[in-house]
Amino acid sequence: MNQQAPDEHPDVILCPDGPMLLRGEHVIEDEDGKEHSTTRPVSAVCRCGASGIKPWCDGTHKTMRKRPGR
Ligand code: FES
Repeated sequence: MNQQAPDEHPDVILCPDGPMLLRGEHVIEDEDGKEHSTTRPVSAVCRCGASGIKPWCDGTHKTMRKRPGR
């Protein structure tokens, strides 16, 4: 059962076969240890590895084959 109040939202949302959405200010560390900060209301972090603007999602995941069972 969802106990969240209607005006509350999670800070992190994992999109199936897509990015991780972050709400509010965050600092992301990429695979080289470089930090990327964001202050956008919502930021999308690439989880597929194919983005041309890593660590951020550029929508490339939409062109990739979905995982079986999805
Ligand atoms: S998750 Fe969107 S480009 Fe990787």
